[in-house]
Amino acid sequence: MTDTTNNTSTTEATDETGGTGGSTDRNDSPAGRNEETADSISRAPSRRSLIGWGGAGLALGAAAAGGAVAMARNGDDTEPTAASTGAAVAFHGTNQAGIATPVQDRLHFAAFDVKTTDRAAFVQLLKDWTEAARRMTAGHAVGEGAYGGLAEAPPDDTGEALGLKPSRLTLTIGFGPSLFDKFGLADRRPEALVDLPKFAGDNLDGNRSGGDLCVQACADDPQVAVHAIRNLARIGFGKVVIRWSQLGFGKTSSTTPEAQTPRNLMGFKDGTRNIAGTETDRLKKFVWVEEKDGPAWMVDGSYLVARRIRMNIETWDRTSLQEQEDIFGRDKGEGAPVGKAKERDRPFLKAMKPDAHVRLAHPDTNAGATLLRRGYSFTDGTDGLGRLDAGLFFLAYQRDVRKGFIPVQRSLATDALNEYIQHVGSAVFAVPPGVRDKDDWWGRTLFSKDSKDSKSSTNSTNSKEA
Ligand code: HEM
Repeated sequence: MTDTTNNTSTTEATDETGGTGGSTDRNDSPAGRNEETADSISRAPSRRSLIGWGGAGLALGAAAAGGAVAMARNGDDTEPTAASTGAAVAFHGTNQAGIATPVQDRLHFAAFDVKTTDRAAFVQLLKDWTEAARRMTAGHAVGEGAYGGLAEAPPDDTGEALGLKPSRLTLTIGFGPSLFDKFGLADRRPEALVDLPKFAGDNLDGNRSGGDLCVQACADDPQVAVHAIRNLARIGFGKVVIRWSQLGFGKTSSTTPEAQTPRNLMGFKDGTRNIAGTETDRLKKFVWVEEKDGPAWMVDGSYLVARRIRMNIETWDRTSLQEQEDIFGRDKGEGAPVGKAKERDRPFLKAMKPDAHVRLAHPDTNAGATLLRRGYSFTDGTDGLGRLDAGLFFLAYQRDVRKGFIPVQRSLATDALNEYIQHVGSAVFAVPPGVRDKDDWWGRTLFSKDSKDSKSSTNSTNSKEA
Protein backbone atom coordinates (compact mmCIF):
# COMPACT_ATOMS: atom_id res chain seq x y z
CA MET A 1 0.00 0.00 0.00
CA THR A 2 1.30 3.41 -0.88
CA ASP A 3 2.02 5.71 1.99
CA THR A 4 1.39 9.32 1.24
CA THR A 5 1.61 10.35 4.82
CA ASN A 6 5.36 10.09 4.70
CA ASN A 7 7.70 10.11 1.80
CA THR A 8 10.76 9.05 3.70
CA SER A 9 9.54 6.03 5.54
CA THR A 10 11.32 3.41 3.52
CA THR A 11 14.70 5.05 3.64
CA GLU A 12 14.53 5.52 7.34
CA ALA A 13 14.87 1.89 8.13
CA THR A 14 18.58 2.47 7.76
CA ASP A 15 20.63 4.69 9.97
CA GLU A 16 22.34 7.84 8.77
CA THR A 17 25.41 5.93 7.71
CA GLY A 18 23.25 3.89 5.41
CA GLY A 19 23.96 0.90 7.58
CA THR A 20 21.43 -1.54 8.71
CA GLY A 21 22.90 -2.45 12.05
CA GLY A 22 22.12 -0.72 15.28
CA SER A 23 20.48 -0.99 18.60
CA THR A 24 16.78 -0.86 19.12
CA ASP A 25 16.95 -0.39 22.84
CA ARG A 26 17.82 2.58 24.96
CA ASN A 27 21.09 1.38 26.46
CA ASP A 28 23.04 3.83 24.43
CA SER A 29 24.87 5.44 27.24
CA PRO A 30 28.41 6.45 26.26
CA ALA A 31 29.48 2.86 26.74
CA GLY A 32 26.84 1.54 24.44
CA ARG A 33 26.77 3.89 21.47
CA ASN A 34 28.74 1.78 19.05
CA GLU A 35 26.13 2.06 16.39
CA GLU A 36 26.80 5.75 15.97
CA THR A 37 29.42 6.85 13.50
CA ALA A 38 32.59 8.58 14.56
CA ASP A 39 31.36 11.53 12.53
CA SER A 40 28.08 11.79 14.29
CA ILE A 41 29.74 11.60 17.65
CA SER A 42 32.35 14.19 16.77
CA ARG A 43 29.57 16.53 15.65
CA ALA A 44 27.75 16.22 18.94
CA PRO A 45 28.61 18.84 21.53
CA SER A 46 30.67 17.32 24.30
CA ARG A 47 28.95 16.66 27.55
CA ARG A 48 31.57 18.69 29.33
CA SER A 49 30.87 21.73 27.14
CA LEU A 50 27.19 21.56 27.98
CA ILE A 51 27.51 21.38 31.71
CA GLY A 52 26.30 24.61 33.16
CA TRP A 53 23.94 25.21 30.28
CA GLY A 54 20.80 25.37 32.36
CA GLY A 55 22.43 22.80 34.61
CA ALA A 56 20.99 20.03 32.52
CA GLY A 57 24.11 18.93 30.72
CA LEU A 58 22.17 18.09 27.60
CA ALA A 59 24.03 16.73 24.67
CA LEU A 60 21.51 17.41 21.97
CA GLY A 61 23.70 17.97 19.00
CA ALA A 62 23.73 16.14 15.74
CA ALA A 63 24.12 12.66 17.13
CA ALA A 64 22.45 10.27 14.78
CA ALA A 65 19.12 9.01 15.98
CA GLY A 66 18.61 6.43 13.28
CA GLY A 67 18.57 2.83 14.27
CA ALA A 68 18.07 -0.26 12.23
CA VAL A 69 14.66 -0.91 13.56
CA ALA A 70 11.60 -2.08 11.77
CA MET A 71 10.02 1.25 10.98
CA ALA A 72 6.25 1.35 11.20
CA ARG A 73 5.45 4.77 9.77
CA ASN A 74 3.07 3.59 7.08
CA GLY A 75 -0.60 3.36 7.77
CA ASP A 76 -0.45 -0.13 6.32
CA ASP A 77 1.98 -1.72 8.69
CA THR A 78 0.94 -4.99 10.22
CA GLU A 79 -0.04 -3.51 13.49
CA PRO A 80 0.03 -6.52 15.84
CA THR A 81 3.46 -7.57 14.64
CA ALA A 82 4.86 -4.09 14.89
CA ALA A 83 3.43 -3.73 18.36
CA SER A 84 4.73 -7.06 19.58
CA THR A 85 8.23 -6.42 18.30
CA GLY A 86 8.29 -3.00 19.92
CA ALA A 87 9.21 -1.43 16.58
CA ALA A 88 10.05 2.21 16.03
CA VAL A 89 7.89 4.58 14.02
CA ALA A 90 9.85 6.84 11.67
CA PHE A 91 10.15 10.35 13.08
CA HIS A 92 10.88 12.11 9.78
CA GLY A 93 8.11 12.59 7.25
CA THR A 94 5.85 14.96 5.38
CA ASN A 95 3.32 14.82 8.21
CA GLN A 96 4.06 14.33 11.88
CA ALA A 97 3.73 10.77 13.11
CA GLY A 98 1.03 10.18 15.72
CA ILE A 99 -1.89 11.32 13.55
CA ALA A 100 -2.52 8.88 10.70
CA THR A 101 -0.01 6.28 11.94
CA PRO A 102 -1.49 3.24 13.74
CA VAL A 103 -2.80 4.11 17.20
CA GLN A 104 -0.72 2.79 20.07
CA ASP A 105 -2.13 1.54 23.38
CA ARG A 106 -0.97 4.30 25.71
CA LEU A 107 -0.88 8.07 25.87
CA HIS A 108 0.86 10.78 27.83
CA PHE A 109 -0.34 14.15 26.63
CA ALA A 110 1.13 17.38 27.99
CA ALA A 111 0.21 21.01 27.44
CA PHE A 112 2.97 23.51 28.18
CA ASP A 113 3.06 27.24 28.83
CA VAL A 114 6.03 29.22 27.57
CA LYS A 115 7.88 31.16 30.25
CA THR A 116 10.75 32.65 28.29
CA THR A 117 10.34 35.87 26.33
CA ASP A 118 13.56 35.24 24.44
CA ARG A 119 12.65 34.11 20.93
CA ALA A 120 16.11 32.71 20.19
CA ALA A 121 16.03 30.67 23.39
CA PHE A 122 12.62 29.29 22.47
CA VAL A 123 13.75 28.38 18.95
CA GLN A 124 16.77 26.63 20.46
CA LEU A 125 14.43 24.69 22.73
CA LEU A 126 12.40 23.53 19.73
CA LYS A 127 15.62 22.32 18.11
CA ASP A 128 16.73 20.58 21.30
CA TRP A 129 13.31 18.95 21.66
CA THR A 130 13.43 17.78 18.06
CA GLU A 131 16.78 16.10 18.58
CA ALA A 132 15.61 14.46 21.78
CA ALA A 133 12.38 13.32 20.07
CA ARG A 134 14.38 11.93 17.15
CA ARG A 135 16.45 9.87 19.56
CA MET A 136 13.64 8.71 21.85
CA THR A 137 11.33 7.62 19.03
CA ALA A 138 14.18 5.51 17.64
CA GLY A 139 14.59 3.88 21.04
CA HIS A 140 17.67 5.78 22.14
CA ALA A 141 18.33 7.66 25.35
CA VAL A 142 18.48 11.44 25.34
CA GLY A 143 21.90 13.03 24.82
CA GLU A 144 24.68 10.94 26.27
CA GLY A 145 22.39 8.65 28.16
CA ALA A 146 21.45 7.95 31.74
CA TYR A 147 24.77 6.76 33.15
CA GLY A 148 28.46 6.61 32.44
CA GLY A 149 28.98 10.36 32.20
CA LEU A 150 30.44 12.84 34.61
CA ALA A 151 29.57 11.96 38.17
CA GLU A 152 29.32 15.64 39.09
CA ALA A 153 26.42 16.36 36.73
CA PRO A 154 22.91 15.02 36.42
CA PRO A 155 22.69 12.54 33.54
CA ASP A 156 21.20 13.71 30.24
CA ASP A 157 18.50 11.03 30.34
CA THR A 158 16.33 10.19 33.33
CA GLY A 159 16.86 6.47 32.74
CA GLU A 160 13.50 4.81 33.29
CA ALA A 161 13.24 3.73 29.66
CA LEU A 162 16.64 2.01 29.56
CA GLY A 163 16.27 -1.46 28.14
CA LEU A 164 12.78 -0.82 26.84
CA LYS A 165 12.00 -1.10 23.14
CA PRO A 166 10.94 1.92 21.04
CA SER A 167 7.35 0.67 21.54
CA ARG A 168 6.14 2.61 18.49
CA LEU A 169 6.64 5.87 20.39
CA THR A 170 5.40 8.87 18.44
CA LEU A 171 5.82 12.47 19.58
CA THR A 172 3.57 15.06 17.99
CA ILE A 173 3.87 18.78 18.73
CA GLY A 174 1.16 21.42 18.47
CA PHE A 175 0.99 25.21 18.95
CA GLY A 176 -1.92 26.71 20.90
CA PRO A 177 -3.64 30.05 20.13
CA SER A 178 -1.92 31.77 23.07
CA LEU A 179 1.54 31.08 21.59
CA PHE A 180 0.69 33.52 18.82
CA ASP A 181 0.44 36.35 21.36
CA LYS A 182 4.16 35.82 21.98
CA PHE A 183 7.38 36.24 20.01
CA GLY A 184 5.72 38.57 17.46
CA LEU A 185 3.79 35.69 15.92
CA ALA A 186 0.35 37.38 15.82
CA ASP A 187 0.24 37.68 12.03
CA ARG A 188 1.16 34.01 11.66
CA ARG A 189 -1.80 32.65 13.59
CA PRO A 190 -3.88 30.51 11.22
CA GLU A 191 -7.49 31.59 10.80
CA ALA A 192 -8.51 27.99 11.31
CA LEU A 193 -6.93 28.05 14.80
CA VAL A 194 -9.99 29.60 16.40
CA ASP A 195 -10.65 29.85 20.11
CA LEU A 196 -13.30 27.22 20.67
CA PRO A 197 -16.73 28.69 21.49
CA LYS A 198 -18.56 27.67 24.65
CA PHE A 199 -20.66 24.59 23.93
CA ALA A 200 -23.85 23.51 25.68
CA GLY A 201 -23.01 21.56 28.82
CA ASP A 202 -19.36 22.64 29.01
CA ASN A 203 -17.99 22.68 32.54
CA LEU A 204 -14.39 23.48 31.76
CA ASP A 205 -11.64 23.61 34.34
CA GLY A 206 -9.03 26.25 33.44
CA ASN A 207 -6.34 24.07 35.02
CA ARG A 208 -7.09 21.35 32.49
CA SER A 209 -7.53 23.61 29.48
CA GLY A 210 -5.49 25.64 27.00
CA GLY A 211 -1.73 25.74 26.63
CA ASP A 212 0.84 27.48 24.42
CA LEU A 213 2.19 24.15 23.21
CA CYS A 214 1.32 20.50 23.41
CA VAL A 215 3.18 17.26 22.96
CA GLN A 216 1.20 14.08 22.37
CA ALA A 217 3.28 11.02 23.28
CA CYS A 218 1.79 7.68 22.23
CA ALA A 219 3.48 4.32 22.75
CA ASP A 220 2.61 0.72 23.44
CA ASP A 221 4.50 0.90 26.73
CA PRO A 222 3.26 3.56 29.20
CA GLN A 223 6.73 3.95 30.67
CA VAL A 224 8.11 4.90 27.25
CA ALA A 225 5.42 7.57 26.79
CA VAL A 226 5.90 8.97 30.30
CA HIS A 227 9.67 8.96 29.90
CA ALA A 228 9.36 10.99 26.70
CA ILE A 229 7.22 13.75 28.22
CA ARG A 230 9.31 13.83 31.37
CA ASN A 231 12.53 14.27 29.44
CA LEU A 232 11.08 16.97 27.17
CA ALA A 233 9.83 18.84 30.25
CA ARG A 234 13.26 18.50 31.80
CA ILE A 235 14.98 19.87 28.71
CA GLY A 236 12.51 22.76 28.73
CA PHE A 237 13.21 23.69 32.35
CA GLY A 238 13.24 27.48 32.72
CA LYS A 239 11.69 28.04 29.29
CA VAL A 240 8.45 26.09 29.41
CA VAL A 241 6.40 24.58 32.19
CA ILE A 242 3.76 21.86 32.04
CA ARG A 243 0.32 23.46 32.37
CA TRP A 244 -1.62 20.19 32.52
CA SER A 245 -1.13 16.64 31.39
CA GLN A 246 -3.21 13.55 30.80
CA LEU A 247 -2.40 9.86 30.89
CA GLY A 248 -4.51 7.59 28.71
CA PHE A 249 -4.90 3.88 28.14
CA GLY A 250 -6.95 1.60 25.94
CA LYS A 251 -7.09 3.59 22.73
CA THR A 252 -10.70 4.43 21.95
CA SER A 253 -10.29 4.64 18.23
CA SER A 254 -8.30 2.98 15.57
CA THR A 255 -6.70 4.14 12.34
CA THR A 256 -6.23 0.50 11.27
CA PRO A 257 -9.69 -0.89 10.42
CA GLU A 258 -8.39 -4.43 10.03
CA ALA A 259 -7.53 -4.46 13.73
CA GLN A 260 -10.23 -5.21 16.28
CA THR A 261 -12.14 -2.04 17.15
CA PRO A 262 -11.31 -1.02 20.72
CA ARG A 263 -14.02 -0.37 23.32
CA ASN A 264 -14.44 2.74 25.43
CA LEU A 265 -15.22 2.72 29.16
CA MET A 266 -18.95 2.57 28.39
CA GLY A 267 -18.27 -0.82 26.85
CA PHE A 268 -19.04 0.12 23.24
CA LYS A 269 -16.81 -0.32 20.22
CA ASP A 270 -15.40 3.10 19.44
CA GLY A 271 -13.75 4.23 16.23
CA THR A 272 -15.67 2.02 13.81
CA ARG A 273 -16.27 4.79 11.35
CA ASN A 274 -12.98 6.60 11.81
CA ILE A 275 -10.63 7.70 9.04
CA ALA A 276 -8.08 4.94 8.46
CA GLY A 277 -4.38 5.68 8.06
CA THR A 278 -4.55 4.05 4.63
CA GLU A 279 -7.42 6.22 3.35
CA THR A 280 -5.22 8.75 1.66
CA ASP A 281 -8.12 10.45 -0.11
CA ARG A 282 -10.03 11.06 3.11
CA LEU A 283 -6.87 12.12 4.93
CA LYS A 284 -6.23 14.64 2.18
CA LYS A 285 -9.80 15.87 2.25
CA PHE A 286 -10.36 16.08 6.00
CA VAL A 287 -7.04 16.02 7.88
CA TRP A 288 -4.03 17.58 6.14
CA VAL A 289 -3.81 21.32 5.58
CA GLU A 290 -3.30 22.30 1.95
CA GLU A 291 -1.67 25.28 0.29
CA LYS A 292 -5.01 26.92 -0.45
CA ASP A 293 -6.07 26.68 3.20
CA GLY A 294 -3.12 28.79 4.34
CA PRO A 295 -0.96 29.81 6.01
CA ALA A 296 1.99 28.31 4.09
CA TRP A 297 3.77 27.23 7.27
CA MET A 298 0.87 24.88 8.11
CA VAL A 299 0.83 22.98 4.80
CA ASP A 300 0.90 19.21 5.58
CA GLY A 301 -0.01 19.99 9.18
CA SER A 302 -3.38 19.54 10.89
CA TYR A 303 -5.47 20.92 13.77
CA LEU A 304 -6.01 19.08 17.01
CA VAL A 305 -8.90 19.43 19.45
CA ALA A 306 -8.39 17.83 22.86
CA ARG A 307 -11.32 17.45 25.28
CA ARG A 308 -11.26 15.77 28.65
CA ILE A 309 -14.73 14.19 28.88
CA ARG A 310 -15.71 12.84 32.27
CA MET A 311 -18.15 9.94 32.27
CA ASN A 312 -20.73 9.45 34.98
CA ILE A 313 -19.75 5.82 35.05
CA GLU A 314 -21.88 4.81 38.03
CA THR A 315 -25.06 6.22 36.47
CA TRP A 316 -24.22 4.61 33.14
CA ASP A 317 -23.69 1.25 34.83
CA ARG A 318 -27.25 1.41 36.20
CA THR A 319 -28.72 2.12 32.76
CA SER A 320 -30.52 -0.66 30.90
CA LEU A 321 -28.87 -2.29 27.92
CA GLN A 322 -31.68 -1.11 25.64
CA GLU A 323 -31.22 2.48 26.68
CA GLN A 324 -27.44 2.25 26.31
CA GLU A 325 -27.83 0.93 22.77
CA ASP A 326 -30.44 3.57 21.92
CA ILE A 327 -28.07 6.28 23.12
CA PHE A 328 -25.34 5.28 20.70
CA GLY A 329 -27.53 3.92 17.90
CA ARG A 330 -25.44 0.76 17.81
CA ASP A 331 -25.65 -2.56 19.63
CA LYS A 332 -23.23 -3.36 22.41
CA GLY A 333 -21.97 -6.77 21.33
CA GLU A 334 -21.26 -6.49 17.62
CA GLY A 335 -21.32 -2.70 17.35
CA ALA A 336 -23.75 -2.87 14.43
CA PRO A 337 -25.87 0.21 13.65
CA VAL A 338 -29.59 -0.03 14.52
CA GLY A 339 -31.35 -2.45 12.18
CA LYS A 340 -28.09 -3.81 10.73
CA ALA A 341 -26.22 -7.03 11.46
CA LYS A 342 -22.55 -6.17 11.26
CA GLU A 343 -20.31 -3.51 12.78
CA ARG A 344 -19.15 -2.25 9.41
CA ASP A 345 -22.63 -2.13 7.83
CA ARG A 346 -23.57 1.35 6.68
CA PRO A 347 -25.59 3.13 9.38
CA PHE A 348 -29.20 3.95 8.47
CA LEU A 349 -29.55 7.11 10.50
CA LYS A 350 -33.35 7.39 10.35
CA ALA A 351 -33.65 4.04 12.08
CA MET A 352 -31.92 5.53 15.12
CA LYS A 353 -33.52 7.72 17.81
CA PRO A 354 -33.29 11.41 16.87
CA ASP A 355 -30.93 12.04 19.79
CA ALA A 356 -28.67 9.01 19.21
CA HIS A 357 -24.95 9.87 19.37
CA VAL A 358 -24.03 8.26 16.05
CA ARG A 359 -26.94 9.90 14.25
CA LEU A 360 -25.93 13.35 15.48
CA ALA A 361 -22.19 12.87 14.95
CA HIS A 362 -22.44 11.30 11.50
CA PRO A 363 -21.12 13.37 8.56
CA ASP A 364 -24.54 13.25 6.84
CA THR A 365 -26.01 15.23 9.75
CA ASN A 366 -23.16 17.75 9.69
CA ALA A 367 -22.76 18.82 6.07
CA GLY A 368 -20.04 16.24 5.61
CA ALA A 369 -17.87 17.26 8.60
CA THR A 370 -15.49 14.39 9.33
CA LEU A 371 -12.89 13.98 12.07
CA LEU A 372 -9.93 11.69 12.62
CA ARG A 373 -10.51 10.55 16.20
CA ARG A 374 -7.53 9.33 18.24
CA GLY A 375 -8.74 9.41 21.85
CA TYR A 376 -7.91 7.35 24.93
CA SER A 377 -9.72 6.24 28.05
CA PHE A 378 -8.56 7.64 31.36
CA THR A 379 -9.09 6.79 35.02
CA ASP A 380 -7.56 9.24 37.45
CA GLY A 381 -8.54 7.55 40.70
CA THR A 382 -11.71 8.61 42.47
CA ASP A 383 -13.28 11.98 43.14
CA GLY A 384 -13.60 11.81 46.92
CA LEU A 385 -17.30 10.96 46.65
CA GLY A 386 -16.67 7.33 45.83
CA ARG A 387 -17.03 7.82 42.10
CA LEU A 388 -14.44 6.98 39.48
CA ASP A 389 -12.87 10.04 37.90
CA ALA A 390 -12.87 8.40 34.51
CA GLY A 391 -13.85 9.05 30.95
CA LEU A 392 -12.63 9.71 27.47
CA PHE A 393 -9.71 11.93 26.60
CA PHE A 394 -11.04 12.89 23.19
CA LEU A 395 -8.45 13.80 20.55
CA ALA A 396 -9.53 14.72 17.04
CA TYR A 397 -7.47 15.88 14.05
CA GLN A 398 -8.94 17.89 11.21
CA ARG A 399 -8.05 20.22 8.39
CA ASP A 400 -10.08 23.10 9.79
CA VAL A 401 -11.60 23.24 13.28
CA ARG A 402 -14.44 25.43 11.97
CA LYS A 403 -15.46 22.69 9.56
CA GLY A 404 -14.64 19.77 11.84
CA PHE A 405 -15.04 19.70 15.60
CA ILE A 406 -17.14 22.84 16.00
CA PRO A 407 -20.13 21.84 13.82
CA VAL A 408 -20.07 18.26 15.10
CA GLN A 409 -19.93 19.31 18.75
CA ARG A 410 -22.75 21.84 18.17
CA SER A 411 -24.82 19.07 16.65
CA LEU A 412 -24.17 16.97 19.76
CA ALA A 413 -25.95 19.59 21.92
CA THR A 414 -29.04 17.35 21.90
CA ASP A 415 -27.07 14.09 22.24
CA ALA A 416 -28.73 11.59 24.61
CA LEU A 417 -25.21 10.74 25.77
CA ASN A 418 -24.92 14.17 27.43
CA GLU A 419 -26.80 12.91 30.47
CA TYR A 420 -23.82 10.64 31.17
CA ILE A 421 -20.85 12.80 30.24
CA GLN A 422 -19.42 16.23 30.90
CA HIS A 423 -16.65 18.08 29.05
CA VAL A 424 -14.24 19.29 31.76
CA GLY A 425 -11.09 20.18 29.79
CA SER A 426 -10.51 21.70 26.38
CA ALA A 427 -7.65 22.79 24.15
CA VAL A 428 -6.95 23.41 20.49
CA PHE A 429 -3.61 23.33 18.70
CA ALA A 430 -2.13 23.92 15.25
CA VAL A 431 -0.04 20.85 14.51
CA PRO A 432 2.73 21.80 12.09
CA PRO A 433 4.00 19.59 9.25
CA GLY A 434 6.45 16.77 9.84
CA VAL A 435 10.16 17.11 10.46
CA ARG A 436 11.61 16.34 7.03
CA ASP A 437 15.16 15.23 7.77
CA LYS A 438 17.97 15.31 10.28
CA ASP A 439 18.53 19.06 9.80
CA ASP A 440 14.91 20.01 10.22
CA TRP A 441 13.22 20.85 13.52
CA TRP A 442 9.77 21.19 15.03
CA GLY A 443 8.28 24.57 14.17
CA ARG A 444 10.87 25.57 11.56
CA THR A 445 8.20 26.58 9.06
CA LEU A 446 6.58 28.85 11.67
CA PHE A 447 9.76 30.45 12.94
CA SER A 448 11.74 30.71 9.73
CA LYS A 449 11.58 34.04 7.89
CA ASP A 450 10.46 32.49 4.62
CA SER A 451 7.78 29.96 5.46
CA LYS A 452 7.23 29.27 1.77
CA ASP A 453 10.23 27.00 1.85
CA SER A 454 8.41 24.59 4.12
CA LYS A 455 8.52 21.93 1.43
CA SER A 456 12.07 22.41 0.27
CA SER A 457 15.25 20.80 1.49
CA THR A 458 16.10 21.77 5.02
CA ASN A 459 19.86 21.59 4.77
CA SER A 460 20.41 25.24 5.51
CA THR A 461 17.39 25.77 7.71
CA ASN A 462 19.32 26.74 10.79
CA SER A 463 20.41 29.98 9.18
CA LYS A 464 16.89 30.79 8.00
CA GLU A 465 15.28 31.09 11.37
CA ALA A 466 14.11 34.50 12.38
C1 HEM B 1 -17.43 10.35 26.18
C2 HEM B 1 -17.79 10.82 25.00
C3 HEM B 1 -17.99 9.99 23.78
C4 HEM B 1 -18.21 8.66 23.65
C5 HEM B 1 -18.31 7.62 24.76
C6 HEM B 1 -18.34 8.37 22.25
C7 HEM B 1 -18.59 7.11 21.71
C8 HEM B 1 -18.83 6.84 20.38
C9 HEM B 1 -19.20 5.56 19.84
C10 HEM B 1 -19.37 4.29 20.65
C11 HEM B 1 -19.35 5.69 18.51
C12 HEM B 1 -19.78 4.61 17.51
C13 HEM B 1 -18.64 3.89 16.86
C14 HEM B 1 -17.84 4.69 15.87
O1 HEM B 1 -18.21 4.87 14.73
O2 HEM B 1 -16.77 5.17 16.29
C15 HEM B 1 -19.05 7.08 18.19
C16 HEM B 1 -19.07 7.61 16.94
C17 HEM B 1 -18.70 8.89 16.65
N1 HEM B 1 -18.43 9.89 17.55
FE1 HEM B 1 -18.37 9.73 19.53
N2 HEM B 1 -18.19 9.53 21.55
C18 HEM B 1 -17.97 10.54 22.45
C19 HEM B 1 -17.75 11.87 22.16
C20 HEM B 1 -17.68 12.39 20.90
C21 HEM B 1 -17.39 13.76 20.58
C22 HEM B 1 -17.12 14.87 21.59
C23 HEM B 1 -17.38 13.86 19.22
C24 HEM B 1 -17.11 15.06 18.35
C25 HEM B 1 -17.44 16.29 18.66
C26 HEM B 1 -17.68 12.54 18.69
C27 HEM B 1 -17.74 12.23 17.37
C28 HEM B 1 -18.09 11.01 16.85
C29 HEM B 1 -18.15 10.73 15.43
C30 HEM B 1 -17.83 11.70 14.30
C31 HEM B 1 -18.56 9.40 15.31
C32 HEM B 1 -18.77 8.62 14.00
C33 HEM B 1 -20.18 8.82 13.48
C34 HEM B 1 -20.38 8.07 12.18
O3 HEM B 1 -19.69 8.41 11.21
O4 HEM B 1 -21.20 7.16 12.15
N3 HEM B 1 -17.85 11.68 19.74
N4 HEM B 1 -18.76 7.75 19.35
